[in-house]
Amino acid sequence: MNLILMGLPGAGKGTQADKIIETYDIPHISTGDMFRSAIKEGTELGKKAKSFMDKGDLVPDEVTIGIVKERLSKPDCEKGFLLDGFPRTIAQAEALDQLLEELGTQIDHVLHIDVPQEKLVDRLTGRRICPTCGATYHVEFNPPKQDGKCDHDGSELIQRDDDKPETVKNRLDVNIQQTEPLLNYYRKKGDLVAVNGDQDINKVFEDISEKLGGNA
Ligand code: AP5
Repeated sequence: MNLILMGLPGAGKGTQADKIIETYDIPHISTGDMFRSAIKEGTELGKKAKSFMDKGDLVPDEVTIGIVKERLSKPDCEKGFLLDGFPRTIAQAEALDQLLEELGTQIDHVLHIDVPQEKLVDRLTGRRICPTCGATYHVEFNPPKQDGKCDHDGSELIQRDDDKPETVKNRLDVNIQQTEPLLNYYRKKGDLVAVNGDQDINKVFEDISEKLGGNA
């Protein structure tokens, strides 16, 4: 199963990705996660990406396409993959099509998690993440069992740098601008599946499973 997960920042892509990869046993390819680990490791890629991410801007296409190409060529992607947060521009979508053709495969479904824009600021500014295992929480909508601590490993939860209110607005503006043309791109191909992301986290996953054939 080759999937793309689309949605504005805060729509719930990462939250649903965790459930999808567990159920379908496919690798999770999140360009945002890849950039964050490169930043943590202090690599050249990380230094390049950080200047864009800190402002809420997109990392340039040639950099982003390069890391996805490398990742999709790894053997674990032969059984399928879940792309989260990629493609985000038409140039990325076209590059992906070309790469998949070279690899002799194609996308099965493009899931678009749709959430009213006015709800996204609260979701982003209230998000907390575990710096050790990457688990995602929300202070109000998905709190950890113990305040401020990860359920899995007890680490102190932190806020992502780009979830600070001053960055969130630009991130949303930039992504809103890119989204409609991309949705049209996949709509025309007939691959687009809309999912209502404005409901309970488990209900969103139920809907996704149903749309993927109900075999979750
Ligand atoms: P990336 O890491 O991809 O971030 P994003 O797209 O901005 O998405 P988020 O991770 O913020 O949100 P999400 O949809 O995963 O929501 P989540 O599940 O956490 O990208 C970061 C940056 O990297 C970009 O800004 C850009 O600079 C760069 N980048 C990445 N990909 C790129 C690309 N292809 N091209 C160029 N640059 C790129 O949920 C959010 C919160 O809501 C959580 O607290 C969660 O608990 C809560 N929540 C989730 N679901 C629900 C629900 N149903 N009800 C209530 N609360 C919910």
